[in-house]
Amino acid sequence: MSGSQAVIIRPLGDADRDWVLQLMQEHWGSVRVITRGVVYDVSAMPGFVAWRGDERIGLLTYRIAGDECEIMSLNSLVEGVGAGSALLAAVQEAARATGCRRVWLITTNDNLHALGFYQRRGYHLSALYPNALERSRQLKPQIPLVGFGGIPLRDEIELEILI
Ligand SMILES: CC(C)(COP(=O)(O)OP(=O)(O)OC[C@H]1O[C@@H](n2cnc3c(N)ncnc32)[C@H](O)[C@@H]1OP(=O)(O)O)[C@@H](O)C(=O)NCCC(=O)NCCS
Repeated sequence: MSGSQAVIIRPLGDADRDWVLQLMQEHWGSVRVITRGVVYDVSAMPGFVAWRGDERIGLLTYRIAGDECEIMSLNSLVEGVGAGSALLAAVQEAARATGCRRVWLITTNDNLHALGFYQRRGYHLSALYPNALERSRQLKPQIPLVGFGGIPLRDEIELEILI
């Protein structure tokens, strides 16, 4: 397959579910995601898949509550070819189409790459929840003590974009 093939975004469908389970298990230790102390099972949530040729190279899952859309997970399996950006654009478009005014997400203090990625795409820091991971670990013991780059994994950082 050529590395220059276009990235195509498709809504998550039933045929993707096994792949979602596997990806979430591999990258986040489980299909359960905890944000603001609430456990969510992303395996049944809506989402988008980034495809390059016949290969799935990215996944975004989200939930809509009222006029807000929370991004629950975002993973790119082939970084730097536009999958993450295209997935973000797709969820913002879907949120706008259903009347949402705000897209938000939680990332963690160690994820310096994601903090840059989202801010370069118009997201603002909207809240800091110090030590939130301590409580999350009681609900999901797989959450490691140390995160990206050897940084202690401690805090939740909320980012948002108004659409
Ligand atoms: C954060 C993450 C989703 C970004 O995904 P990605 O697919 O690499 O994102 P993109 O390819 O769209 O953009 C990454 C960089 O590649 C560059 N890029 C985008 N399209 C490109 C293309 N067609 N060719 C070359 N470079 C490109 C962009 O300039 C971008 O750099 P920038 O942020 O400085 O602007 C990915 O790094 C990831 O999965 N991280 C681990 C999981 C994670 O942290 N998720 C977020 C948790 S909240």
